Amino acid sequence: EKDGHDWFMRKEIFEQPRAVADSLLGRHARNGLLQLDEMRLSDQELRDIDKIIIIACGTSFYAGLVAKYAIEHWTRVPVEVELASEFRYRDPILDYSTLVVAISQSGETADTLQAIRHARLQRSKVLAICNTNGSTIPRESDAVIYTHAGPEIGVASTKGFLTQLVACYLLALYLAQVKGTRYGDEISEIMRQLESIPDQIAAVLSRADEVYELARAHVDTRSVLFLGRHAGYPVALEGALKLKELAYIHAEGFAAGELKHGPIALVEEGLPVLCVVPPRGRDQLHEKMISGIQEVRARGARTICLAEEGDTSIEPYADHLIRLPRVPVLLQPLVAVVPLQLFACELATAMGHDVDQPRNLAKSVTVE
Ligand code: F6R
Repeated sequence: EKDGHDWFMRKEIFEQPRAVADSLLGRHARNGLLQLDEMRLSDQELRDIDKIIIIACGTSFYAGLVAKYAIEHWTRVPVEVELASEFRYRDPILDYSTLVVAISQSGETADTLQAIRHARLQRSKVLAICNTNGSTIPRESDAVIYTHAGPEIGVASTKGFLTQLVACYLLALYLAQVKGTRYGDEISEIMRQLESIPDQIAAVLSRADEVYELARAHVDTRSVLFLGRHAGYPVALEGALKLKELAYIHAEGFAAGELKHGPIALVEEGLPVLCVVPPRGRDQLHEKMISGIQEVRARGARTICLAEEGDTSIEPYADHLIRLPRVPVLLQPLVAVVPLQLFACELATAMGHDVDQPRNLAKSVTVE
C-alpha cells in the first residue's frame, strides 16, 4: 500500500509528478483556450470581480500566498490572502464583486468552512480549490476547481500542496483569459511551462539521496531558518512548517529582505539557514537574495542554498548547494518545495519520529 516506501508521506512526495500532471489534464483545450469544467461562474460574473480574497489554513494558506503573486501579475486584480481562522472576526469588506477563494485539501476544515459561510452571507461568490470530491467546502461553494492529487494519507500535506498550486495557476490564467489581461499565445506558453513541471519534479526526486544525506547530518539541530523572496517566500514558510510538524524542531521562514529588520539577531555560529534562491532574471531578486545570504553567512550561519542549474554566482555563498531545474520565478515553488519536503521527511525519520502521524496533529481539523 505504500509502494515499497516506509511512510505514506514519502510515497506521496514521489507521486507528485503524476499528481501535478493529473491536475493539469484536460484543462488546456486544443484551440489553446483554458477550460475549467467545474467553474460554474459565468464570464460576466468573473469580469465583474474587482477583488479576490483567498482564505485557507496551514499549508493551504501558503499555496494562497503563492497564488497572490500569480493572480496579481497575470490579471491585475488585487488579492488578499487571509488565515481562515481570522477572516470573519475582523468584519471583512465583502460584496458581490469580491471573489472568495477557499483552498482546502480535505474540504472539511472547520475554520475555512465557517469563513466561506460568512462570505456567502455577505453575497460574495465563493470558489473552492479542493482535493476531496463531494466534501463540505465544495458543496457549499458556488464553483470549484478540483485538484487530482488522489487521497493524501500522510498528515503533512505534500502532493495536496503542489496540486493546489497548479489549481491556483489555472485559476489565475483562466481569469486572465476571461478578463483579457493576457493573450492566448502567452497563456499557452505558460501552460507549456506548467506541462513540463512533472518531468522537472521527477528530476528533483531523482537526486533525493543528496537531500537525505544532508538531512541525516542535522539530527542534532535544534533550530533552522528558511529564507525566500517573492514566490520563494511562501516556500520558505512551508519548508519551516514541514520541519516543525515532523521533526518537532524550531523552524521559521522569513522573507529575506526582512532579515535586517529583526530576525538576523537570531543568527549564531553554525545555525543552518535554508535559502530558496530565485532564478536569475531582469529584476533584482536574485542579487538581493545573495546579499541576504552573505549577511547571515558573515554571522556564522551555515547556508544550504536551493538554486537553479547553471547559477554559478551562488557557489561562493553556499555551504551546501541543492540544484533546481530552471523554471520561471512564479512557477519555482512547484520544484523548490520538493527538496524541503524530502529534508523534513528524512530528518524526522532519522530522529525516530512517526512521520505519518506526527504528535498532536490530525489530518482534517473539523473543530474551530
Ligand atoms: C500541513 C497541513 C495542515 C493543513 C491545514 C489545512 O502539512 O497538512 O497545515 O494544510 O490543516 O487543511 P486543509 O487543506 O484540508 O483545509
